[in-house]
Amino acid sequence: MTATVQTQSNEASAGGQTPLVELRNVGKSYGHIHALKDISLRVHAGQVTGILGDNGAGKSTLIKIIAGLHQQTEGELLVDGEPTKFSSPADALGKGIATVYQNLAVVPLMPVWRNFFLGQEVRKKSFPYSLDANAMRATTLAELAKMGIELPDVDAPIGSLSGGQRQCVAIARAVFFGARVLILDEPTAALGVKQSGVVLKYITAAKEAGFGVVFITHNPHHAHMVGDHFVLLNRGRQKLDCTYDEISLEHLTQQMAGGDELEALSHELGRK
Ligand SMILES: Nc1ncnc2c1ncn2[C@@H]1O[C@H](COP(=O)(O)OP(=O)(O)OP(=O)(O)O)[C@@H](O)[C@H]1O
Ligand SMILES: [Mg+2]
Repeated sequence: MTATVQTQSNEASAGGQTPLVELRNVGKSYGHIHALKDISLRVHAGQVTGILGDNGAGKSTLIKIIAGLHQQTEGELLVDGEPTKFSSPADALGKGIATVYQNLAVVPLMPVWRNFFLGQEVRKKSFPYSLDANAMRATTLAELAKMGIELPDVDAPIGSLSGGQRQCVAIARAVFFGARVLILDEPTAALGVKQSGVVLKYITAAKEAGFGVVFITHNPHHAHMVGDHFVLLNRGRQKLDCTYDEISLEHLTQQMAGGDELEALSHELGRK
């Protein structure tokens, strides 16, 4: 999939493509709390944009703006180069922007396929229009297999899957229902090393399939493994904005850990 290239060629970058989503000098205030100030970033098709930052840095606020949950109080949001204001998450979804939140909205006791189609069930064409379980089962299996997820049984309750698998099912679902931009809110935060690996592989598969991925994380190792572009937030400000080629894992980790502050702390603690 490629970005729909429209008229704003002056905004083009990354091989001449218009970004799927772009923020220009975006700010967000809640009353007199400035949660974000002067944020500019681009999300391109076939790339992973890693958004890093410590607690309270403004990561969730940022994705809520892209996801249509909140509106910015300053700056511009562009979709396919067009200035846009979303009035709801459904609006953003209509433009192909889907968010997978950390606390996935799943029904643990229901089978994987029921969760996959939750709220968008397929019904039989002929009376009595009952649920077409076979069609939904087959689609779920096929969609998961497309992205390299082999589940032995889509009839198993989703609650019996590992955290990593559940994240992958949620992402596959967003893809199936028409997403072009996937916003993943800390998908690896609660996972161990192996399960995180499953999700990271899946993020890479989504990127290779042409999706624009926004990957929010606290973990510079995870970001560096899959990211093409990194934005680091610190108390609502953009502290870093660079590409994979421009930053080593070591430097990213140091920046994430607070850089100079961390060095001052290790001096103070007498360790060098
Ligand atoms: N609805 C709100 N009303 C008032 N202040 C808010 C609101 N949402 C966020 N904030 C404030 O904005 C700042 C950024 O919060 P945000 O939740 O975006 O950070 P975060 O980077 O997602 O943090 P975490 O890693 O803890 O999830 C914080 O100071 C927070 O208290
Ligand atoms: Mg958050």
